[in-house]
Amino acid sequence: MDNFTFQSPTKFVFGKGTETQVGDLVKQTGATKVLIHFGGGSVQRSGLLDRVKASLDAAGIPYVSLGGVLPNPTDKIVYEGIELCRKENVDLILAVGGGSSIDSAKAIGVGVPYEGDFWDFYSGKKHAKKTLPVATVLTIAAAGSEGSESSVITKEEGSFKRGYTEELIRPVFSILNPALTQTLPQNQTAAGAADIMAHIFERYYTNTLDVEVTDRLCEALLLTMLHELPKVIADPNDYEARANIMWTGMVAHNNLIGVGRQQDWSSHGIEHELSALYGIAHGAGLAVVFPAWMKYTMHHDVMRFAQMATRVFGCDMDFANPERTARMGIERLEAFWSSCGLPIRLQDVGGREEDISYLAGHIGLGDGTMGSFVPLTTSDVIGIYKLMLR
Ligand code: NZQ
Ligand code: ZN
Repeated sequence: MDNFTFQSPTKFVFGKGTETQVGDLVKQTGATKVLIHFGGGSVQRSGLLDRVKASLDAAGIPYVSLGGVLPNPTDKIVYEGIELCRKENVDLILAVGGGSSIDSAKAIGVGVPYEGDFWDFYSGKKHAKKTLPVATVLTIAAAGSEGSESSVITKEEGSFKRGYTEELIRPVFSILNPALTQTLPQNQTAAGAADIMAHIFERYYTNTLDVEVTDRLCEALLLTMLHELPKVIADPNDYEARANIMWTGMVAHNNLIGVGRQQDWSSHGIEHELSALYGIAHGAGLAVVFPAWMKYTMHHDVMRFAQMATRVFGCDMDFANPERTARMGIERLEAFWSSCGLPIRLQDVGGREEDISYLAGHIGLGDGTMGSFVPLTTSDVIGIYKLMLR
């Protein structure tokens, strides 16, 4: 196991009706004016936004609002938010929604105290030294942004979808009420689940040896997803299954399960090109990318894939032919995702073979590589995109 430092400073308030505590929680942070930041309207339709405002009113916290964050959020609204926060002297940003609203809030947070262009952080030019605190009321179990040190924004000009990772941007508190996820359409529930599973895979496929504890945590979370997701697909109002998935989503991505080991993350980079070009849900893109990435890289460490296949997907170990076991695990993953209504091939998300060289080139690897389990060149990435075709 590698050396590590782990600090997860976010306060999590979990359970039914917890959004009514938001006013008091904001007050406890010492904030005096809030920007409520949200998406395309689901929080208005569900009545959540009104409940959040009522709680802030009751705590005597003034606020301004900025809605309209797009799924796969773009830089445009970040600039608007930065301007609004400066004009209104906002000192805490409250994201009410999913990963997109939270990531946009995080970008505004680092942008407000910074004199330059916030994109400097996402393009890797600069590291933020300060941020406005960000808090969240989560409405979808997926990105894990409610506990993570990451934010992903798309620059509209040139469609560059890029992530920024920095400890400073972890939320100060996050409210997780699983009942709020009951209004999600099935495709969003399933895409969120695929994203959660992908966050585990990105950490599981590692070259670091002797990481039994984090391997076992990863496997437990994946087993939970295999057990709970079908229940939610069958009954979207299954609160207990929603609760298990929501907490899995947080634990899968606040890095508790990733410490002390090399992590890969190339599949996320490969997916970001799909969601940037085709406007699809990030999790749906990952359901297409991961099986292909697995097939492409499995020979690097067949036993690790066979371990996943036996411990998580219930395959029997073929000691004479471990590759057979490894392949069966990948097939079972595809079958599971398909059974939940997820796409698993490029064509399923509107992808076209003729876009592949653009997609691979747009990642911008040049002569470099991405990922660490198997460092991938642009030609490897092309090979992976090709494996996504039927
Ligand atoms: O915009 P509204 O109207 O709110 O609708 C949203 C949106 O259309 C809807 N929705 C959310 N909660 C709902 C609901 N509809 C009905 N009932 C509810 N309770 O669902 C759609 C998707 O929302 P979004 O916030 O985009 O989903 P998600 O949480 O999957 O976030 C995706 C973004 O997060 C990034 C992705 O790349 C993508 O841009 N990621 C962020 C990460 C991080 N910050 O750590 C890590 C991830 O790997 C990921 O890259
Ligand atoms: Zn993700």
